[in-house]
Amino acid sequence: MDEQVTLPSPTMLQEVIEGLRKDQKTLPSKYFYDQRGSQLFEEITELDEYYPTRTEMSIMRNNMPDIIRTLGSDIVLAELGSGSSTKTRLLLDHLSCITSYVPIEISEQYLAKVVQNLNQEYPDLQINPVCTDYTTPFQLPAISEPYNNIVFFYPGSTIGNFQPPRAKAFLKNLSTLMGPGDGMLVGVDLKKDINVLEAAYNDRQGVTAQFNKNILRHINRKLDTNFNLSKFSHKAFYNRQEGRIEMHLVSRINQTVAIEGQAFPFEKGESIHTENSYKYNIAEFENLVSTWFSVEKIWTDANDYFSIQYLQKK
Ligand code: AVJ
Repeated sequence: MDEQVTLPSPTMLQEVIEGLRKDQKTLPSKYFYDQRGSQLFEEITELDEYYPTRTEMSIMRNNMPDIIRTLGSDIVLAELGSGSSTKTRLLLDHLSCITSYVPIEISEQYLAKVVQNLNQEYPDLQINPVCTDYTTPFQLPAISEPYNNIVFFYPGSTIGNFQPPRAKAFLKNLSTLMGPGDGMLVGVDLKKDINVLEAAYNDRQGVTAQFNKNILRHINRKLDTNFNLSKFSHKAFYNRQEGRIEMHLVSRINQTVAIEGQAFPFEKGESIHTENSYKYNIAEFENLVSTWFSVEKIWTDANDYFSIQYLQKK
């Protein structure tokens, strides 16, 4: 019961080397999230400038009966990238007819801690955690109790981290785990005033800068590399052409970083592209998912900053 399943994923070393060999150097944004990174992200969600989390939470609170009705009864709620499961608690507090909660999370320590807390807070809830990188193919654990439908919960607009073709591949993959009547409750950040967007990723306290640099700290710790965090600076801006916020780490000097005996030179001003955060309008998102899903319901806030959408497998 409640046993943690760990599945293998492609190695960090391979992914880091591949990313840093490109003309525009990149690192996979999932590597922000070691324990410190997950904590820094939690801090981001509380910043004045970072509207997505509080807006999404208020949309959930304001529409809870309707959301619950839409999800149906006796469901398996499988959360992609469960983190602290804060938004999930809003659902768990109302969903009396949930058969099992399946938190799927890459950070092993974080997952273990959150499951421990949830077990205490919801003693009657069956929890089947899966520790894996959900961006690679995975299986859902066996659920002992009978249930009606699987509902994936994918809040936070994390789907915006994928480039659209990758988002489509991911959705296609996810749909293979689903049957008729299964659905997905997904948070989608919407296009809006560029100043609002850019402020959310350039907070005055510099928490987002620390979060961005933490990717290097995480890699240093796991791969025995020697990125000097003070030799990189945080940069985030809205790329209107692509419809996305980009985060970069810009090298402050000419420098070389060694990884497994290979040298990776950086020119002063050269950047590592660490994250994309795509923003969609309603029609663009519908177009993204429509091969596999129909958009059944959309809830938004008064400013139309953010949306929560219920998709049903076609
Ligand atoms: C968790 C991916 C939705 O893109 O807004 C926050 C991550 N990056 N600040 C986002 C993030 C910088 C966040 N997501």
